[in-house]
Amino acid sequence: MSTLPSEILLYDLHPSAADIRSDVLDGLARRPKQLPSKYFYDARGSELFERICQLPEYYLTRAELALMHTHAPAMGAALGRRALLLEYGSGSGAKTDLLLQHLPEVAAYVPVEISRSALTASVAHLSERFADIPMLPVCADFTQPITLPEPARRAARTIIYFPGSTIGNFNTDQAVRLLTQMRRTMGRNGAALIGVDLVKSPQRIEAAYNDAAGVTAEFTLNLLARLNRELEADFDLGAFRHRARYHPERERIETCIVSRCAQDVRVCGHRVHFAAGEAMRVELSCKYSSESFAHIAERAGLTVSHVWMDAEGLFSVQCLRPAGTPG
Ligand code: AVJ
Repeated sequence: MSTLPSEILLYDLHPSAADIRSDVLDGLARRPKQLPSKYFYDARGSELFERICQLPEYYLTRAELALMHTHAPAMGAALGRRALLLEYGSGSGAKTDLLLQHLPEVAAYVPVEISRSALTASVAHLSERFADIPMLPVCADFTQPITLPEPARRAARTIIYFPGSTIGNFNTDQAVRLLTQMRRTMGRNGAALIGVDLVKSPQRIEAAYNDAAGVTAEFTLNLLARLNRELEADFDLGAFRHRARYHPERERIETCIVSRCAQDVRVCGHRVHFAAGEAMRVELSCKYSSESFAHIAERAGLTVSHVWMDAEGLFSVQCLRPAGTPG
């Protein structure tokens, strides 16, 4: 466990056990059953996610880091000085490090992250690397309305950083809603910098979510282990399996937890039945083309002002600005 330097205060708005309980019971009452992927990220889930990022099949993180190495100077120049950098789903902060190196005179860094352990570790590291940048970490679910801390230094603009293709974990309507919310948060002279995984061969995508070492399967099933730990559930992890399939017509990977047999599970006092072979959806990972991403940006009142890609064209980082503002 890392600890934060004493001058950094963590705003802790982590979802309560009651929030998790009602989201989980709602999802289990749906047909087909569904659980929110944001609950993957407890301490163990964040640790497994970091291992996924190192897997040979999981091209996303490597491609995005390579892209940041090459293009962060151009991003910094396009974004301008004295920005408040607001990051959603900040994770380990490795890409943020590359961005902060090239953003001039940052007014404040405000990472919003649902995993308390990932947030503390990344801010402990970044505050050491960038001692002059005020850091105001917020542990929260960024899909919920949150009151952000006020920085002491006046910022010239708000830049929202949303790396990692986390935008892919939302369906189209949810993504448009989230981008609309971001447009309101950034204001007229703000911008968003968003990591977007690109459409490519289904084999390549499916391999990334079905690694040979089985780390992704462990990450997926950790969701049930977390419910056992936090909601007094009794999921038998051996009685369920991970399944991730790419649907080319929807341009997305859908990850399910499949029941290996007919069984009853107890979840916070409720008995939940699973049929043999029943699939419960736990994650979506949408893949975009330049055109399809520009389209959802437009629906949110934003325009794409820059697109950067890695050398292989696997992944993109896109700069969005409110529609009708100069680029
Ligand atoms: C980086 C959170 C977007 O959907 O690719 C990785 C999560 N799930 N392997 C993704 C994830 C399975 C990941 N995000």
